[in-house]
Amino acid sequence: MRNNIVWHHTNKKKEDRETLLKQKGAVLWFTGLSGSGKSTVANAVEKKLFEAGRATYLLDGDNVRHGLNKDLGFDTKDRIENIRRIAEVSKLFVDAGIITLTAFISPFIEDRNQVRSLLGDRFIEIFVDCSLETCEGRDPKGLYKKARAGEIKDFTGIDSPYQKPIHPEIIVATDVETVEECRDKIIRYLIVNGLIR
Ligand code: PPS
Repeated sequence: MRNNIVWHHTNKKKEDRETLLKQKGAVLWFTGLSGSGKSTVANAVEKKLFEAGRATYLLDGDNVRHGLNKDLGFDTKDRIENIRRIAEVSKLFVDAGIITLTAFISPFIEDRNQVRSLLGDRFIEIFVDCSLETCEGRDPKGLYKKARAGEIKDFTGIDSPYQKPIHPEIIVATDVETVEECRDKIIRYLIVNGLIR
């Protein structure tokens, strides 16, 4: 089947769309424990970029699992497939010239490295660093409580692993930095690295 599929080159290229949008497509890949603040910080960054006239899109774990990935659960195989699909979707958004923000736990180093190889220098890994203790204390959705009670299995940080990034482009520590500090650190990175002017 695969042998009969031929790549079609489109008339307009990523570079054309980026010129039109006056920005470079990139993925800001937020990774961290449940309750670490991935969505909160990603939303704050998107708001700031949007207000500055940037074309953005935020892909969020919970939301994507309502649609595209509603057939997937939380065992290792499904988490790998979850991230693989998000990586491919992100690649399309980058090709469209969009600054894409993704907020997924994405617990495995190998999967995040796969995304990095797919997206090259347009992949910016942001480690949302927050201790398990703090995340569990926040427990915004009551999921840690359920996981401790054995009502949810394969819960990240409890009975499913989270592998911290080794060399992320950016680290934000949400248990010591405010949302605004985290947001501004990320925006500064985008300016310094020429992704936005
Ligand atoms: S993953 O690991 O990247 O595939 O997970 P993700 O797609 O980001 O989905 C995480 C959100 O799903 C909810 N949830 C769970 N998280 C972790 N482990 C288990 N077992 C689980 N079950 C449900 C939870 O609300 C996560 O959202 P966040 O925003 O991270 O708290």
